[in-house]
Amino acid sequence: MYFSRTTLLYMLIFTLLLHKVVGDDPLFHICSSSENYTANGPFDTNLKQLMDYLSTKVPPTGFGFGSVGQAQTRVNGLALCRGDVSSTDCKSCVVEANSEIRKRCPYKEGAIIWYDYCLLKYSNEEFFGKIDNKNKFYMWNVQKVNDPASFNQKTKDLISRLSNEANRSPLLYATGELELEESKKLYGLAQCTRDLSSIDCKKCLDGAISELPNCCDGKEGGRVVGGSCNFRYEIYPFVNA
Ligand SMILES: *[C@@H]1O[C@H](CO)[C@@H](O)[C@H](O)[C@H]1NC(C)=O
Repeated sequence: MYFSRTTLLYMLIFTLLLHKVVGDDPLFHICSSSENYTANGPFDTNLKQLMDYLSTKVPPTGFGFGSVGQAQTRVNGLALCRGDVSSTDCKSCVVEANSEIRKRCPYKEGAIIWYDYCLLKYSNEEFFGKIDNKNKFYMWNVQKVNDPASFNQKTKDLISRLSNEANRSPLLYATGELELEESKKLYGLAQCTRDLSSIDCKKCLDGAISELPNCCDGKEGGRVVGGSCNFRYEIYPFVNA
């Protein structure tokens, strides 16, 4: 088949637009266990049941966790939606995450997947209430700022403030802004999974903040994203008001 360059460009744009409507790609995933379960075996059945549970339990409040099964075939899981996401979008995200994680980590007894709108994690190990220090990634905007030293400090100030607000709020979630020069603003978000205590939420976010120099030095936007907490900052607004 032959397509002109223009047609291809339109197809590309259309695909991108469609994508935006249907739902964004996962940001990242990690198959955290090397253990395999058997197709249609007890672990598989328990995992399916857990995912059904999470996809109804999570959307109304944006968070939920649970376990299904006993001993060797027990599976534990949680899902968290970003604090501003509607229950409808939360549900689509969790359902999509479940189908995608099965493709990306087939038959693995532990895995985690992140989207802009949600994260979904399951494991044969019980992990509730513990800070996840293993599953983590960075994202950054390739654009560099002109004044990295002062910008880095402002980023750190904003995220530290939001970290303090998040761990004091019942949803373990906070967003906010900070004024930059020339009527520009820095926008930020911090969030923890709600199986963590307030103290551990703070500890988790402090750990993430200490990675700012590794991920985001002088970058216009950045994220440190883990299995228990994450933050993000940008020079444009990115959460729904
Ligand atoms: C799980 O399955 C993969 C692919 O078939 C294999 O490479 C791996 O060794 C298996 N892991 C274990 C722990 O048996």
